[in-house]
Amino acid sequence: KFSIVIAGGGSTYTPGIVMTLLNHLDRFPIRQLKFYDNDGERQKVIADACEVILREKAPEIKFVATTDPEEGFTDVDFVMAQIRVGKYALRDQDEKIPLKYGVIGQETCGPGGIAYGLRSIGGVLEIADYMEKYSPNAWMLNYSNPASIVAEATRRLRPNAKILNICDMPVGIQERMAKIVGLNYYNDLEVRYFGLNHFGWWTAVRDKQGNDLMPKIREYVAEHGYLLPDIPDESSWKATFGMAKNTFALDPERFPNTYLQYYLYTKFEAEHMDPHHTRTDEVREGREKFVFSECKKIAASQSIEGLKFKPDDHSNYIVDLSRAIAYNTHERMLVIVENNGAVANFEPTAMVEVPCIVGSNGPERLAMGDIPRFQKGLLEQQVAVEKLAVDAWEEHSYLKLWQALTLSHTVPDASVAKKILDDLIEANKGFWPEL
Ligand code: G6P
Repeated sequence: KFSIVIAGGGSTYTPGIVMTLLNHLDRFPIRQLKFYDNDGERQKVIADACEVILREKAPEIKFVATTDPEEGFTDVDFVMAQIRVGKYALRDQDEKIPLKYGVIGQETCGPGGIAYGLRSIGGVLEIADYMEKYSPNAWMLNYSNPASIVAEATRRLRPNAKILNICDMPVGIQERMAKIVGLNYYNDLEVRYFGLNHFGWWTAVRDKQGNDLMPKIREYVAEHGYLLPDIPDESSWKATFGMAKNTFALDPERFPNTYLQYYLYTKFEAEHMDPHHTRTDEVREGREKFVFSECKKIAASQSIEGLKFKPDDHSNYIVDLSRAIAYNTHERMLVIVENNGAVANFEPTAMVEVPCIVGSNGPERLAMGDIPRFQKGLLEQQVAVEKLAVDAWEEHSYLKLWQALTLSHTVPDASVAKKILDDLIEANKGFWPEL
């Protein structure tokens, strides 16, 4: 049986992940579950409720919630890291500052993503170091954002750490593809995919028998994008999934990640964002409110009657990935790894998202061959942005960061980049290295 620490225990995603873990105890048995967060007050609300849920559903699991790294990271097999450095207050700024200048305001794309990256690198390295110190044999599954920049930083700065960088977005889209062809589970599909995190394309989609599912999916996506009638999406996600059809139109041979629309329909996307009410507001008004009030209710009543938290199917990949490591299942999954030839005609040191065979020794990348010029051009530009952002963090360099913002496909020119950068520096005081 395994011991897990969720780093970022105070996240509103935590109850859903706990429910998913509980749902899969037969496949992935747990003896101990810990929450670690550096914000004890926020974590306590989530932890008090999860303690009741665990007591009712799986009393054999030992539960600990702590702000002490030693207590949190000692005796664990897996670190599930989902930290948000700067919390929603700064996500709000990541989104709203660029929008002031008519530029996409998004937590992982463009200037907002770069800003968030500069905050997250230190936090993720800290977690990796706690793991190394207190449980050197553990594996860290890292889905903290922005995954691309964070992955580049861990590649450079902790090359030997056992970190698996992974993202739920391709999983979510594959779930939709599976439904389009009448299957259920993201891993009912066997795919070929290449790109960077939040910046990639599916080049093959087959079922487990090897049948090509591309024609059917292509027909659907051309008309609806990834919108499915039976899945209720919040308005911004609806727009996101619907917009995929326009991105797909640019290359109908491959299926795009939804985030590509920010780079390919930049003007349209920026114009359709409300600079005063962004995704952060939507999350605060929706998920934050719901999760915190439910948690308080459970803690007050000490009962899970009418429990509204559900296993989040979306997070099944966390269990699949943990099992792959724990039981050497050789599961085929999309992981963010150093390219090293997986995409033949692309920067060997880029952190690419590609299918890997995952076993007890980590991920083995599969060869995706050469990629076309259109995608290669876009990827070269984006990888340079991400590498410059990490350079800037390491070297405390204003210039590198200005170059990163200028190079981002979402930013019109160097003067706009500079204005945004100067505002971001103000907003991120105490979270960024001094430039
Ligand atoms: C997707 C992405 C994540 C991102 C999340 C934001 O799942 O893959 O990288 O963090 O969306 O979701 P939210 O509901 O917080 O806007």
